[in-house]
Amino acid sequence: MIQHDALIVGAGLAGQSAALAAIRNGARDVAILTKVHPVRSHSCAAQGGIAASLGNSAPDSTESHEFDTVKGGDYLSDQTAATILAENAPDTIYELEHMGVVFSRTEDGKIAQRPFGGHTSPRACYAADRTGHAVLHGLYEQVMKAGVKTYSEWYMLSLVIEDRQCRGVVVMNIDTGEIETICAKAVFFGTGGYGRIFQTTTNAFASTGDGAVIAYRAGIPLEDMEFMQFHPTGLYRHGILASEGARGEGAYLINGKGERFMERYAKERMELAPRDIVSRAEQTEIDEGRGGEEDGGAVYLDLRHLGGGRIMERLPQIWQLAHDFLGIDMIKEPIPIQPTAHYSMGGIPTNTDGEVVDDQENSVVRGYYAAGECACVSTHGANRLGTNSLLEACVYGARTGRSIARYVLNGASDKGAEKALRDAQARAVEYVERVRAMDGPERTADIRTEMKHAMMQKCGVFREEKPLQELTGELQELRARFERASVMDRGRRFNTDILETIEMDHMLELTQIVAAGALARQESRGGHSRRDYPQRDDQSWLKHTLAYRQDDGTPALRYKSVEIVKYEPQERKY
Ligand code: FUM
Repeated sequence: MIQHDALIVGAGLAGQSAALAAIRNGARDVAILTKVHPVRSHSCAAQGGIAASLGNSAPDSTESHEFDTVKGGDYLSDQTAATILAENAPDTIYELEHMGVVFSRTEDGKIAQRPFGGHTSPRACYAADRTGHAVLHGLYEQVMKAGVKTYSEWYMLSLVIEDRQCRGVVVMNIDTGEIETICAKAVFFGTGGYGRIFQTTTNAFASTGDGAVIAYRAGIPLEDMEFMQFHPTGLYRHGILASEGARGEGAYLINGKGERFMERYAKERMELAPRDIVSRAEQTEIDEGRGGEEDGGAVYLDLRHLGGGRIMERLPQIWQLAHDFLGIDMIKEPIPIQPTAHYSMGGIPTNTDGEVVDDQENSVVRGYYAAGECACVSTHGANRLGTNSLLEACVYGARTGRSIARYVLNGASDKGAEKALRDAQARAVEYVERVRAMDGPERTADIRTEMKHAMMQKCGVFREEKPLQELTGELQELRARFERASVMDRGRRFNTDILETIEMDHMLELTQIVAAGALARQESRGGHSRRDYPQRDDQSWLKHTLAYRQDDGTPALRYKSVEIVKYEPQERKY
C-alpha cells in the first residue's frame, strides 16, 4: 500500500495550486496523481484570461468584481465564496507573475487587461490567448522545483470514506494496469469538469467527470449539476474554443444576414453580455432561421475590423485554430461558430476552506477536499463569468492547500485505514475485471455518440419538460445497452479501451444526474433555461440542488439554501 500525508488528484490549476500551498505551509509528504501528464491537464486550454481588479486599464475594485460575479451567477452564488474570490484575485495574479507566468503587457509595462462578458471593467489579465497554458506551465515549474512526487498517467478508480472520514483512494497505474491503494490523511480532488457528456464541447477528451462520479459513488451528493455553461463561440461543428477574448478585443457577433443581433438581447453590453445570455441569443437566431452555413446552424464571429496586426498579437491561437479546423483566415472572413458545452458550475460541494461537505447543513467529511471545476463552492452560482474559472482554481486551490497543511500538521491520522482500503481494492479489481470481460453485441462508441447527441438536443441551451422526460428514458436505455457492450482490448498495459469504457460508465451516471436536476428545476436561471418556465423564480427555486445516489443507482434530489450576504436578488439586466 502506498502512503502519503496528502494526495492531490488532478494536476490542473486547482491541483497544482493546492499541492504548492500545502507544501509552502509545512506539509511534507504531498503527492499528485493525474490521468494525463500534468501539462496536458485541461486548464491548459483556457485562453482569454484570468480575472483580477488590478485596474491597470480603467478604475476597478474588488467590490465591483464581487458584485459582477454574483449578478453574473443569477444570484445562486454563495456570496462569501464570491467575496473571497474577488478579494484574493490581485495577490494571486502578482504571485503567479512572481512565479514567472508571462502575462501580456500594457505599453507602460503593467499587466495588460481586456474586457470580458459580464465584468464591468477590463479585468482579464492575459497571455495573448494562451493564458491557461502560461499559468499551468508557471505552476508546474514550481511543482517540479518543490520535488513533488507525481504519479503521471495513473487513473483513480474509487474513493474510500469510512464514518465520514476520508481514508484514501484506489488507483490504476495505466502503464502496467496494476491496481494499488493509496492511503492518505488528506485527499484532494481537482479532477475537472464533464463537458464530454455533450456532443459539442470545448472540453478535452479527459473531461469525463471521473472525480465527481467517484465522489458520488462514495456517498457524497453532487451540487447544482443542472447548471452547465454553453460558451457562445465554439468553432462550428467542432466546438473548439474561440476565446471570448476576441469579443473582449472588439469582435462582433453577426447572424446569417450580417446583423449584429446582440442588439435585440443585451442592448447595453452587446457581445460582452454574460455567456448564458449570448448563447441563448445565438440559439434563438439559429432556431428562428437567421443562422448561416448550409444548414443554418451557425452564427459568425467577425474580427475583420480589428486588423491583422492586432489579431496576430493578441489572438494568435484562435487564428491558428480557425485556419487548421475550418480553413478560414479570420483576418479576411468571419468564423462560423455555435454554442458549445464549456464549464460545469456544479460539482462536489465544499465550504470556503475547500473541505467537502455532504448535507444541507454543510457538515464536513474529514480529510476530503476539492476545488476547481469538479467542485462547487458556488462562487459561480448559475452562470460563471469568463476568466473567473482560472482564478477560482488558483484561489481556492491554494486556500484548500493551506487547509490541508493545517489538517495534516494538527494530528490527522491514517491509523486503521488498511481494511477499508483493502476491501475497496478488491471491489475495484472485480470491477475492472468485469469491464475487461465485457463481450456483448453493443459498441461503446455508438452508445457514447447517441448519449452526447441526446444531451445536446434535449438538455442543451434550452430545455423543456417533454424532451427532458424523453431524455430520462433514453438514458436508461443507453445504460441498459452499455451493460451489453464489449471491449476489444483485454490486455493490461496502457489499455485505453478499458479506460474509455470506465469513463463511459462515469458519463452515463452523470447524464442522469444532470437530466434529473434539469427536469426538476421549474424555472430559468443562468445556464439552465426552460422554455416552459422562462422566468427566474426566487420564491420556489433560490436554492442549491443536492443529488444523492440511491441504492438502485438513480439520483434523489434534495435542496439547500443559498448564502445571501450583501446582494439581495434583483432583476438581471445587461
Ligand atoms: O473564452 C475564453 O477565453 C474562456 C475563458 C473562460 O472560460 O474563463
